[in-house]
Amino acid sequence: MPSSYGRRRFLATGSTLLASSLLARTAQAQEEPPATHPFPNGFLWGSATAGHQVEGNNVNSDSWLLENIHPTLFAEPSGDACNHYHLFPQDIALLADLGLNTFRFSVEWSRVEPEDGMISHAELDHYRAVLDTCHQHGIRPMVTFNHFTVPRWFSGRGGWEHPDAALVFGRYCDTVARALGDRMAFATTLNEPNLTKLLFGIPGLRQSKLGTHLDHEIIRKAGQMMGTGRFSSWIFGDLEHIHDGLLKAHKAGYQAIKSVWPNLPVGVSIAMEDDQAIDDDAIPMRDKKRRLAYEPWFEAVSSHGDFLGVQAYSRCRIGPDGMLPPQKGAPLTDMGYEFYPEVLEGVLHYTHEHVKVPLYVTENGVATTDDKRRVEYIRRAVTGVARCLQQGIDVRGYVHWSLLDNFEWLEGYRPRFGLVAVNRTTFERHLKPSATYLGQIARSNSV
Ligand code: BGC
Repeated sequence: MPSSYGRRRFLATGSTLLASSLLARTAQAQEEPPATHPFPNGFLWGSATAGHQVEGNNVNSDSWLLENIHPTLFAEPSGDACNHYHLFPQDIALLADLGLNTFRFSVEWSRVEPEDGMISHAELDHYRAVLDTCHQHGIRPMVTFNHFTVPRWFSGRGGWEHPDAALVFGRYCDTVARALGDRMAFATTLNEPNLTKLLFGIPGLRQSKLGTHLDHEIIRKAGQMMGTGRFSSWIFGDLEHIHDGLLKAHKAGYQAIKSVWPNLPVGVSIAMEDDQAIDDDAIPMRDKKRRLAYEPWFEAVSSHGDFLGVQAYSRCRIGPDGMLPPQKGAPLTDMGYEFYPEVLEGVLHYTHEHVKVPLYVTENGVATTDDKRRVEYIRRAVTGVARCLQQGIDVRGYVHWSLLDNFEWLEGYRPRFGLVAVNRTTFERHLKPSATYLGQIARSNSV
């Protein structure tokens, strides 16, 4: 995968040392107000990645194909990404050095099952090594069985729209659970399976990218390349069928994992926004969004889930006719949505009213090149979580997105969500002050 692996290993070791000295320096530079909110013992403090976004050269996945096809909707291909596939030992060491106690990452289905029914034991060994490295550093691994990307062959047979999709996903979950489940602290079946409903469920500006001629052309070409004439993937396909397929897949995955490891906590992570009706007339539209985007998953997790992962980045203003853009003059992130760290409070309150299982924030973060804004975002977001705890909401962890500046899907490498910067050629890691800041919160278990 890398052009000169030895050199990268050398750089990797060097940058761990660099990271430790930076840790000390940035800690001094950080002048934060004294901590006022303690967190309960055992609270999880972590950071997250996803296989395709950091590992590099995930060549057998649907996304790789869609990134490299012409035309494409992707700003650039993922390529080597952060070379985390090879550099995971230093990344996990770095996370532990910061003071975090949890690492959320995903297993790449297209590596483990490169062809329908063919299992790669070598790739299972790779993920076993990732898990072992977590344990060597006292880090609790939170494993996502599927973070958006699927094997090409799965997309080529119809993806989540295929009537057998849940069965096939359940089989994969069974394989991974048997091979690796003994080392997992938490498992989630799917990452943000409700994303299509969140983005496109009710009218709003976001609809423009999909359902276009270009979109259909890409899918047609991908189907041709697969030789099946079909290709359904992620947010490319019949969104209703994809969503139904994902609901069934979650249940199948949950049952598969639990039947091997009854005591392993298994949940699902869903995408959420703090949905705010701009006036009373907008309340039915807000409720419609909630009904479509979240409630099926609240039900799914009540019957098939030990916890719910909440992932939220911003608020969504809703008018009587649909979703609205941020107000004029509102501060924006580099993703174009509002800088609104209070999102977690709104989302946790709403979710708590509907869900009885424990909640974990499995993603929250901000795309910015100004790291001071990330520090401010973390402070306000985590303070919101602290207030929720004081009000009796059962939230048990905060996992920040993301550990590394990584491949942000259609947007390519432009948006910077990382606590740690990555040189895209040498793969050197550089800690940002926000990493140290989150580490301080974790070490003191207070904000
Ligand atoms: C996804 C991540 C993504 C992040 C930032 C979440 O929707 O799970 O894969 O990078 O948001 O956009």
